Amino acid sequence: MTSLPVDDLAVLRRRRSAKWQTYPPDVLPLPVAEMDFALAPAVSAALRTAVDASDTGYAFAQPALGEALARFAAGRWDWQLDPGSVVPVPDVGVGAVELIRAASRSGDAVVISPPVYPPFFAWIEETGTRRVEAPLRQQADGAWRLDLDRLEDAFTQRPAAYVLCNPHNPVGRVHDRDELTALADLAARYDVTVIADEIHAPLVLPGARFTPFLTVPGGAEVGISLVSASKAFNLAGLKCAAAVTASPAVTPVIDRLPPTLPWRLGQLGLLASLAAFDEGGDWLDALIATLDDRRRQLDALLAERLPQVRWSPPEATYLAWLDCRAVGDDNRPRELFLEKGRVGLEPGLSFGTPGSGWVRLNFGTGEQILDEAVNRMAAALG
Ligand SMILES: Cc1ncc(COP(=O)(O)O)c(C=O)c1O
Repeated sequence: MTSLPVDDLAVLRRRRSAKWQTYPPDVLPLPVAEMDFALAPAVSAALRTAVDASDTGYAFAQPALGEALARFAAGRWDWQLDPGSVVPVPDVGVGAVELIRAASRSGDAVVISPPVYPPFFAWIEETGTRRVEAPLRQQADGAWRLDLDRLEDAFTQRPAAYVLCNPHNPVGRVHDRDELTALADLAARYDVTVIADEIHAPLVLPGARFTPFLTVPGGAEVGISLVSASKAFNLAGLKCAAAVTASPAVTPVIDRLPPTLPWRLGQLGLLASLAAFDEGGDWLDALIATLDDRRRQLDALLAERLPQVRWSPPEATYLAWLDCRAVGDDNRPRELFLEKGRVGLEPGLSFGTPGSGWVRLNFGTGEQILDEAVNRMAAALG
């Protein structure tokens, strides 16, 4: 399968999205999770058709979103979800905030596992809940895992919710069925709602297999999943995601969601997501093959040019979690790569205290840009 192409830098720099506007033009930006590939043709066509028809009113998501998502989930993950259980939400962030609110009372504890996607911290603050951390555990081989002992310790504080990240950003771990089953068991024992952020599920790379949390024994009774086409198809600015349930046990949480939520969806996001789920499969396969190439390329580049930097290649996502502790603590590596190398990366500490001395690099880009980025990072240390 041939790799998906990426436009030249001069063309990419014309994009007006956050990734391309955050830094001055001499910085190579590899931070926020946006990709540089062109849209899937089915998605572009759906968007063009909508604009040509001035079809830009309010989104009317159900039943179409649930049905398209159910077909996609069955085809990709063998997950038979009920289209009628799908609640459209504007994006995963809004979905998570509203689910935390619905599952908790002000001051309740909510558990997260750093290093983790920085807005997890912000969502807890926004909802007036109290953060309790059960950090991931790094094994001797460098791989990261859920730490079930720490989770149980945290759950003894009777938190209202645990926000699971599966696959886990930034470490790229795809939690396995046994870990997720043990998590569901703990959640049932301590009466904790699991809000499963599964936005990166379509981006599981060769070698790993995604297990939807709601499909493990006991998962449906304690969990609500948040999914979206937005990461895999680069639709973050269009605003469409979904909360999914699989048991009446969690209906009380869903019933407390604001009834106006589906009205806040983006119409273009909905239409693009329907096209992505129903017609984007071949493009997604090509994307995954491309990201697998980039993962291999980055592994070779790091070994050759940046031996001080260690990593454990991710099982999913286009995000590389790089251990730069040999370069410096806190956010010093990110500052050095930016100031001296002119490469924009996410600072490790944004993902929590275990991120001291780490950076996150986005490899959802072209071969040449990735090569140039590692060259610049090596030059910054030279
Ligand atoms: C784990 C995770 N959750 C949520 C989001 C954001 O999703 P949305 O743009 O739908 O709010 C991201 C974006 O990178 C992410 O990595």
